[in-house]
Amino acid sequence: MPQLIDGKKISAEIKDELKEKVQNLKDDGVSICLAVIQVGNDPASSIYVNNKKKACAYVGIESLAYELPEETTQRELLDLVEKLNADDRVNGILVQLPLPGHIDADVVIRAISPDKDVDGFHPESMGRLCIGEEGFVSCTPAGVIQLLKRSGIEIAGKECVVIGRSNIVGKPMSILLLRENGTVTVAHSRTRNLKEVAKRADILVVAIGKPKYITSDYIKDRAVVIDVGMHRNAENKLCGDVDFENVKDKVSAITPVPGGVGPMTIAMLMYNCVRAAIK
Ligand code: GUN
Repeated sequence: MPQLIDGKKISAEIKDELKEKVQNLKDDGVSICLAVIQVGNDPASSIYVNNKKKACAYVGIESLAYELPEETTQRELLDLVEKLNADDRVNGILVQLPLPGHIDADVVIRAISPDKDVDGFHPESMGRLCIGEEGFVSCTPAGVIQLLKRSGIEIAGKECVVIGRSNIVGKPMSILLLRENGTVTVAHSRTRNLKEVAKRADILVVAIGKPKYITSDYIKDRAVVIDVGMHRNAENKLCGDVDFENVKDKVSAITPVPGGVGPMTIAMLMYNCVRAAIK
């Protein structure tokens, strides 16, 4: 059996560390507040938003929930973001994605003050990450780095292959691995010979968005595999982008789905909120 990288345990550790930090900040008169905005009532988004509120309560961060109707205009949403930007009590602003089709998410993301951009999606946050300046880092890839570090997996000098090039996961993931001195390849839907490219990896991060796509013929012996995917199959069971049963005897370590990367996203959001307050 490979080493199971336990995201549930590691995220709980991080939240407990943050809880203590938040209490110390409170003792010094600093309180932390996250504003969470949801437009419409996409059921998956409602679950995510609820989990974010619960994590805030656990860590000791105040959360303000704005549940806006589906027909909210872009202007109304921007007005709310601008009001929250100007509110000194609010340290972090999160607009849950996806937004309804009539709202341009890029415009909304750019409207959030970079000082309150706890999702790390603002172009200034992305730019800072690229040039190695302090700034907010997208929570899921930041969580993957914590999973690796806290599981004793060295990144420096390793061949790292990231499958996926989204702004939220693949791109920031590749830059973070580079920052940790990995040798990084980014593969994507137009990559030729994906199997050969993936097989180079000592550390393979998969964010391809296709259930159980990665089988043992994409994997080098003893590789570390991080599965960012999350899908529900016909029996309502969760699975990732990696076919866990098929690869488990070949890898040295792997994240399960559920209980791998998933819980880390919220832990890192809490981390970003604490950083926003300290700044
Ligand atoms: N929708 C799915 N994941 C995320 C996330 O990390 N942040 C936001 N704002 N929306 C999401």
